[in-house]
Amino acid sequence: MGELEDVRSLVAETRRLAAERDAVILAHNYQRPEVQDAADFVGDSLGLSRQAAATEASVIVFAGVHFMAETAKIISPEKTVLMPEPAAGCPMADMITAEQAEAFKAAHPGAPLVTYVNSSAEVKAVSDVCCTSANAPEVVRSLEVERVLFAPDRNLAAWVASQVPDVEVVAWDGFCPAHDRVTPEAVLAEKREHPEAEVLVHPECRPEVVALADAVLSTSGMLRHVAVSASEEFIVVTEEGLLHALDKAAPGKRFRGLCPPMLCSNMKLTTLQKLRDCLRDMTGAVEVPEGVRVRAARAVERMVAIG
Ligand code: 13P
Ligand code: SF4
Repeated sequence: MGELEDVRSLVAETRRLAAERDAVILAHNYQRPEVQDAADFVGDSLGLSRQAAATEASVIVFAGVHFMAETAKIISPEKTVLMPEPAAGCPMADMITAEQAEAFKAAHPGAPLVTYVNSSAEVKAVSDVCCTSANAPEVVRSLEVERVLFAPDRNLAAWVASQVPDVEVVAWDGFCPAHDRVTPEAVLAEKREHPEAEVLVHPECRPEVVALADAVLSTSGMLRHVAVSASEEFIVVTEEGLLHALDKAAPGKRFRGLCPPMLCSNMKLTTLQKLRDCLRDMTGAVEVPEGVRVRAARAVERMVAIG
């Protein structure tokens, strides 16, 4: 059997198992192409949180990293939430603990803590509200305060500060290794090769990279943008898994990643085989202690209500 046939039959088996188990498969935009193709929904952190909240399936299989599956469990505690690869974590989420978040708040009394969903349930539980890269400025604006604390991503915090200039944003010093290592030179080199291309940058990149962007967008924001943009060519400054989803969103348009490619090794830990095995064996259940879950849910639900 050829490789393509193998992939097709694994996708078919995965879909059959999902139907048998009353499971919905959610996959993040950075997942491997064949994992995206086996999913019911592919999206960004905000879109997948919404799908997790809305689904009627009794099982959610989350192809992504741990904080995403945990967020689904926080929102839908009555559902079984499974991860095909439970070891897939997010290094940025690990850059702040609940104790550190408490100390951050204690050092700035009165300022609400806005926490990026790329964080643990324990950190969410001590936060006032969550946000994603798609809604961070909107969430901060909605608080109507002069000063906020923002964790864990210092780069997303800088982007928010530039979009909401009336609010002082005190940032935690975390970052995404895949996005933070991008240099302006790497973007400019690509731009020299493709001068007509529109530059799309994820706000987890450093401010000096964000400054080169034609548009600063979350992954699903990029997907929506390329479908309506008059441009035919784009330089895509985010994890390379998005290129597959972009090709599907706007067939015929040209998408250029950076050199070397931007890779999140944790996102690539989930394979189609692991997804199939997870559904077959019903393994990789994600649990959140109820006391933590209830407090974390307040911060997540407040975000979902804002937008
Ligand atoms: P979005 O897909 O929400 O833009 O997030 C990017 C990310 O790094 C998820 O880990
Ligand atoms: Fe975390 Fe960055 Fe990977 Fe997203 S791309 S999961 S922020 S390490």
